[in-house]
Amino acid sequence: MKVVHTIEALHAAVRDLKNITLVPTMGNLHDGHISLMRLAKQQGGPVAASVFVNRLQFGPNEDFDTYPRTFQADAEKLEKAGVDIMFAPSEKDMYPVPQEYRVIPPDSLAGILEGYFRPGFFNGVATVVMKLFCAVRPVNAVFGKKDYQQLMIIRRMVEQFALPIKIIGAEIHRGDNGLAMSSRNGYLSAEQLAEAPNLYRILKTAVDQIRAGNQDIDALEKQAMDALKARGWVPDYVSICRQYNLQKPTANEVAKKEPLVILAAAKIGDTRLIDNIEI
Ligand code: PAF
Repeated sequence: MKVVHTIEALHAAVRDLKNITLVPTMGNLHDGHISLMRLAKQQGGPVAASVFVNRLQFGPNEDFDTYPRTFQADAEKLEKAGVDIMFAPSEKDMYPVPQEYRVIPPDSLAGILEGYFRPGFFNGVATVVMKLFCAVRPVNAVFGKKDYQQLMIIRRMVEQFALPIKIIGAEIHRGDNGLAMSSRNGYLSAEQLAEAPNLYRILKTAVDQIRAGNQDIDALEKQAMDALKARGWVPDYVSICRQYNLQKPTANEVAKKEPLVILAAAKIGDTRLIDNIEI
């Protein structure tokens, strides 16, 4: 595996490669990330993985400074997963001058759900992903469905800028207890770790009810919020929406079983977890 740190070295590394699949990450890699690498390998061409904790997508009170940086362990895991190029820039390498040009996704998609609770988050994500796309020029890019709204925003960005990149959504990697793999699971105490799978279980209960014909979306969202609160969580939202644009479905769409998704964000102690299930 070739490890490069600067955009210049990255350009040289990808110059003669065709059909690259890119997997952008912020490092602190776990099995969920490795399943993204596996999916990338299945596309057949060389795989490039980026590891960069992107300051632009963190709010002033978020965990940018404490976000785990685990370069050596990440490099070993990527090498073992058969990744061809690891791009691990420093902040100065990625943003040698302040990043004044930004990609601003529309408020209708980026100002709701995660974007409502983390203002500016998706501007930071879209900007760094656009920069990575320009630097690597991949034909495919893999994003986990765990960050469902992020995946949708990147899909729309690629459509609107007519980028010749196929966006591949990877299924959520869960433990046997249903807990979605996340770098932030590492912040949980043993007790919180035992509680964490209930986020998935509560969403699954709502999904089962929808599949069984319950069409009262508002009541199901409230039921899930109440169930989380009763267990000591502080939920930001539980939202059942259309998969395509993350807007509230009409009663007719629910009745016709249009593709929906239930998404949630909730705090357990100081740690904020997100999860979702496609319906
Ligand atoms: O999902 C992430 O880890 C990040 O948001 C991404 C896509 C690597 C951009 O920094």
